[in-house]
Amino acid sequence: MAMAFPLIVEPIQVGTRRLPNRIVMGSMHTGLEGEPERFGELARFYADRAKGGAGLIVTGGFSPNHAGRIKDHPCNFDSRETIANHRRITDAVHDQGGCIILQLLHAGRYSYHSAPVAPSPIKSPINRDAPSELSGDDVRQTIADYASSTALALEAGYDGVEIMGSEGYLISQFLATRTNHRMDEWGGDLAARARFPIEVVKATRRELGSTGILSYRISALDLIEGGLNQDEIAWLAKELEDAGADCFMTGIGWHESPIPTIAGVVPHAAFADAAANIKNAVSVPVIASNRINSPDVAEQVLRNSLADMVSMARPFLADADFVNKALSGNQRAINVCIACNQACLDHYFTNEIATCLVNPRAIRELEFNDAPAPKAKKVAVVGAGVAGIACALEAAKRGHAVTLYEQGGQIGGQFILAARIPGKEDYGKAIGSFEHQLDQAGVQTVLNASVSPDELAEQAYDDIVVSTGITPRALDIPGANDPRVVGYKEVLEGSAKVGGQVLIIGGGGIGHDVALFLAHPDDGEADKLAHFKQHWGIEQERSPPAGRRQVTMLKRSDGPFGRTLGKSTGWILRQELRDYGVRQLASVTYLKIDESGLHILNGAENEVLPADTIVVCAGQDANAELVGQLEERGCSVHSIGGARLAGELDAKRAMAEGAAIGNQL
Ligand SMILES: Cc1cc2nc3c(=O)[nH]c(=O)nc-3n(C[C@H](O)[C@H](O)[C@H](O)COP(=O)(O)O)c2cc1C
Ligand code: SF4
Repeated sequence: MAMAFPLIVEPIQVGTRRLPNRIVMGSMHTGLEGEPERFGELARFYADRAKGGAGLIVTGGFSPNHAGRIKDHPCNFDSRETIANHRRITDAVHDQGGCIILQLLHAGRYSYHSAPVAPSPIKSPINRDAPSELSGDDVRQTIADYASSTALALEAGYDGVEIMGSEGYLISQFLATRTNHRMDEWGGDLAARARFPIEVVKATRRELGSTGILSYRISALDLIEGGLNQDEIAWLAKELEDAGADCFMTGIGWHESPIPTIAGVVPHAAFADAAANIKNAVSVPVIASNRINSPDVAEQVLRNSLADMVSMARPFLADADFVNKALSGNQRAINVCIACNQACLDHYFTNEIATCLVNPRAIRELEFNDAPAPKAKKVAVVGAGVAGIACALEAAKRGHAVTLYEQGGQIGGQFILAARIPGKEDYGKAIGSFEHQLDQAGVQTVLNASVSPDELAEQAYDDIVVSTGITPRALDIPGANDPRVVGYKEVLEGSAKVGGQVLIIGGGGIGHDVALFLAHPDDGEADKLAHFKQHWGIEQERSPPAGRRQVTMLKRSDGPFGRTLGKSTGWILRQELRDYGVRQLASVTYLKIDESGLHILNGAENEVLPADTIVVCAGQDANAELVGQLEERGCSVHSIGGARLAGELDAKRAMAEGAAIGNQL
């Protein structure tokens, strides 16, 4: 049989190492880097990815010294104290035949602690404290620190290091006129500003000798004013190659850049062109990055010669076996990263250990029991939303005979609706993958099944898991039965007709998503990448399109809209809604609906808002009645997801609960 991905599977030489394929697991700070006593958890996490076929693994960022630590908890690798802990990681990866390099990341002015340092004392827009300026001696010491950390990394068994030179961290800060106003040998023209990274690479190369891999993460696009242009970046790459870099991992945008770089609105492989710019300038391998989440897209990047290798970071959280599944012809069962950031990047901001919404095992591998269950049970899972799916998969993995009942004609629950939102199309792909995984796990999925408590009780299941989800709450004011009032479910499913002037009742996550869905211009099959670049002003003036409808969002509570949205994605949604002219009214009281529209109390003023359509996104209630009914019949019952707690719909909690119960049955 012809190999589906002939380019991914091709081995490649990086420095003196021959890697077995073209897929790199990109660097992700997990939150455990500052807790060496927990490196056993990291060891298992990385070992699973090595076992799963990743050609090269890059660790999350470790700082070469204390000043460069990302947060107050010290993730530095600057002493021999933690070598034994790091050894646990490298040994575990090598035992699986993998290759792992340590990323050195000095955060500079992006450090979230009280004494950040930088080339110049210019505060970053995303940090509270202004950095202090590094003296010439400090700069030289910092270069020496990179070298010392490299020596430690080798001693700890790493196969090399990656120098983090992108995303606006210290090295970017030296390179850009925006952040480097120095008048000494480390500032001035590009050659002087580039002296720091070049010296870092030379010093690192000296430590590595000819054996260890030296990857340099280069900012392939800065996406900020006062950053480098494409010619300057190509020049820098050549200089760094001459200084000793073995390959170039690409990085996209600074953290302060007002352009989405990894969220769902970013089309797949949107920035691969920027990798090609570097590939044209150097002769060592170049690695494309960002929003490459399927082997098809990876193969296409390679086929188009935009890069020599492809990095995936979050897709390895979503599926440890990504590469093996792709290369064994089982790509349809790859668990899809939906770019939600909810359990990975957003955890970083809330000081939680990263994991993955669609794969609750990620970085929690040791919490899961992999042994077959002592007794293979007969298990029913009622409701094939994401909670039920996660539960069924985990239970089947332990050897239980699982039947998954779904009332509707398709599995996926709220993911089906989410997939309709612009920028969330990958949710639909994730459902496709779940179908294959359930099938392969031997779960018997029964669609269009309205099972009664009596029928379930009669089947003598050992355990019944209720994952029947939620029902959207109806509006309870006079006139709420007006035909212009519709539910969000009907709107997203397409069964409700929506006019040009729309009111959305509710300012939660669903209200925002529905506002985007309705206001977003219908660009059909248009070139998504060109639209994305035009909208956000990538290498051109920013020119968002006009909204498709006149949309007003309303909520009862006070305060700004969107406070519950994800830390790393909420700003994008808020900006899109502003771009499309969506109006937002907080602290309103809903009075009634009549032919003139929705009557509200806005502050002390009575207002009537005319509307063609009023969409209700005002919360939901748990579908929990089955739990009590089954308990009355003496069944062993568990409830998970929305059925257990409706609240703000939370797929992350739902999948985590489902997986945990499924694993424990
Ligand atoms: C939780 C998380 C932590 C990250 N930490 C780092 C890091 O320490 N160093 C780094 O170079 N990139 C880091 N990144 C960025 C990733 O390497 C990658 O560029 C980004 O996730 C986009 O690629 P992807 O779409 O394949 O995930 C991190 C990303 C995530 C989601
Ligand atoms: S939490 Fe979301 S974005 Fe992060 S890896 Fe998982 S699916 Fe991808």
